[in-house]
Amino acid sequence: MAAQAEDLFGDLDNRMAMLQAGLDLIDQGFTLFDQDLRLVAGNRAFAEMLEFPQELMRIGTPFEAFMRYNAERGEYGPGDVDALVRERVDAARQFQPHTTERERPGGQIIAIRGVPLPHRGFVTLYTDITEQRKAERLIRERNADLEQRVLERTRELRRSEERLRLITDAIPALIAYIDKDEVYRFANRGYLEWFRRAPHEFVGCPVAEVIGPALYDEVGAYIKRALAGEVVSYEYAMQVDGETRHARSEMVPEVDNDGEVQGAFVLSADITEQKRTQATLMQAQKMEAVGQLAGGIAHDLNNMLTVVLGNLSALEERTRGNADAQELVEPALLATRRGAALIKRLLTFSRQQPLEPRPVDVVELVDGLRTLLRRSLPENITLSLQVGGGLAHAMTDPHQLESALLNLCLNARDAMTAGGTLTLSAAMLQADAGEAAALGVPAGRYVSLTVADTGHGMDSSTLMRACEPYFTTKRFGSGSGLGLAMVYGFAQQSGGALRIRSAPGEGAVVSLLLPATEKVPAPTAEPDAVSTRSRTSPLVLLVEDDADVRQVVRRQLVDLGYMVVEAADGREALDLLSQIDEIRYVISDVVMPGGLDGPALARNVRATRPDIGILLISGYDHGSAGADEFPLLDKPFTKPELAAALAGSLS
Ligand SMILES: Nc1ncnc2c1ncn2[C@@H]1O[C@H](COP(=O)(O)OP(=O)(O)OP(=O)(O)O)[C@@H](O)[C@H]1O
Ligand SMILES: [Mg+2]
Repeated sequence: MAAQAEDLFGDLDNRMAMLQAGLDLIDQGFTLFDQDLRLVAGNRAFAEMLEFPQELMRIGTPFEAFMRYNAERGEYGPGDVDALVRERVDAARQFQPHTTERERPGGQIIAIRGVPLPHRGFVTLYTDITEQRKAERLIRERNADLEQRVLERTRELRRSEERLRLITDAIPALIAYIDKDEVYRFANRGYLEWFRRAPHEFVGCPVAEVIGPALYDEVGAYIKRALAGEVVSYEYAMQVDGETRHARSEMVPEVDNDGEVQGAFVLSADITEQKRTQATLMQAQKMEAVGQLAGGIAHDLNNMLTVVLGNLSALEERTRGNADAQELVEPALLATRRGAALIKRLLTFSRQQPLEPRPVDVVELVDGLRTLLRRSLPENITLSLQVGGGLAHAMTDPHQLESALLNLCLNARDAMTAGGTLTLSAAMLQADAGEAAALGVPAGRYVSLTVADTGHGMDSSTLMRACEPYFTTKRFGSGSGLGLAMVYGFAQQSGGALRIRSAPGEGAVVSLLLPATEKVPAPTAEPDAVSTRSRTSPLVLLVEDDADVRQVVRRQLVDLGYMVVEAADGREALDLLSQIDEIRYVISDVVMPGGLDGPALARNVRATRPDIGILLISGYDHGSAGADEFPLLDKPFTKPELAAALAGSLS
């Protein structure tokens, strides 16, 4: 064994040859330079990798020769060859460990690692890392490409998210997403607007915090059920800016592949308008039913009362002079007449009162009501009439309209016991489909007459029932509860609507909507009659002891558009005058029983109520003292004669 070892390592040449052969088998290039920078050893991989000619590969070749060879063939790029060589030789002389990488002109990349030896000189290892670098570069490029694609995908996603948001924001639905911890994760614009919130007050915030404890009490249980995996739907009401708004919500849980609920989608719709329409419809249906009932009863009773009244009247005539009988008949007659008046009001409510609709100038009509209104209101109520130009004519029955406005004003008066302001105004209203549905009328143009007061107002239950017949909050005897019922019936029958807005302590605003018409009434041949009719129906006190004459004159007055109260003598006339402020004319017979004749009555009226028009009528050749102080009309007279005389009586 020892001999064999001796044999192997004994001969230096042999050993060098073996070492060389071993070095030549290594893939890496290898060189060893001594302290004078002369080649001690190098291997084949070195020569081949760096393409050095064989003659350089001899022992003793100076390091500089390799550098120069390289510099000259352009391995170190352009520049002065000596300088390039010197630079490298100087660096080598430092005998410092170093690692560099060099790309050769052909693209080959060589990693060079120099390691100094203990006794000066150094070993250098050359590795061809072209492939490795190429792979790395490829990976880098791939990565960059990947990154670019991710970037694009992200951008696309963001774009599609934005598109989704745009769509969800555009649809008229309220959409949100709540995660399993009851925190909002998404809300579209509709949802945010519904809650009057900005996005940052929403996303990431707990539901209970956003909607407040009151609403959470109401809907929290549904949210929990949805987050337990159930599809739930519910309705809720919410106060927004002092207004009650209604919504219907549906919650759909989001379940992942493992069957776990991750959150829930909320889809809500604003159903405030729908609720309002529903309420209007229900109210209208109720009123319709009540109206039918009232109308039916009124109709039947009316027929019966006609018979009763006819027979009682006949009885009254036949028993004249029989005081006992008259005492029995008169109250019966009175009650029957009151019954008939009541039935008339009920018929108005149930829309069975014959109407005579025609184009009415509301400005003129309200103007005609001015005096009557002023007189009906106590001193502590200010009357403000705001009925100006720009109004179309209303298609309606003027007499019923007057009576309706009067009713509304009396309600306003009764609501302002401590005084206040009553405003009667008129405006045009263009009702679009939604508004019209809420009012229960066809869409279109309406003349709206509004009576507003500053009185005690109504709570919601009074408001709900105000138009029902016989609903009154006034003490027994002071209100029949038929006023608004009549106005309501009249509005309905006219193709319009009645709208009441009120709150306790905040007065009431009652609007009567009547269909507008472009048609204006054509002037007719009977100008007097028309002008009298188109104004308010003034109240005439007719004083005449002869019932037949009274009846004839009353008929004429009613035909001319006046309302009439009757008195049989002067005393009764004074009584009525003291009780009824609305009387605008007194038509009196000259000669009357009971000590107060026509002229005396007329003087009294002129003294106490100078604004009342006075007209005396007489069937006799009048020698009566004072008859010439007042306009006088001889009996019998025609309707136009009466109209003309009345018109002159005010001066
Ligand atoms: N302007 C108003 N302000 C406050 N409450 C009102 C107003 N108008 C009507 N009301 C309420 O509505 C109820 C019904 O009114 P309606 O006119 O139908 O009957 P009334 O005034 O009580 O009696 P009537 O008009 O038959 O004399 C009233 O009793 C009152 O409670
Ligand atoms: Mg009333």
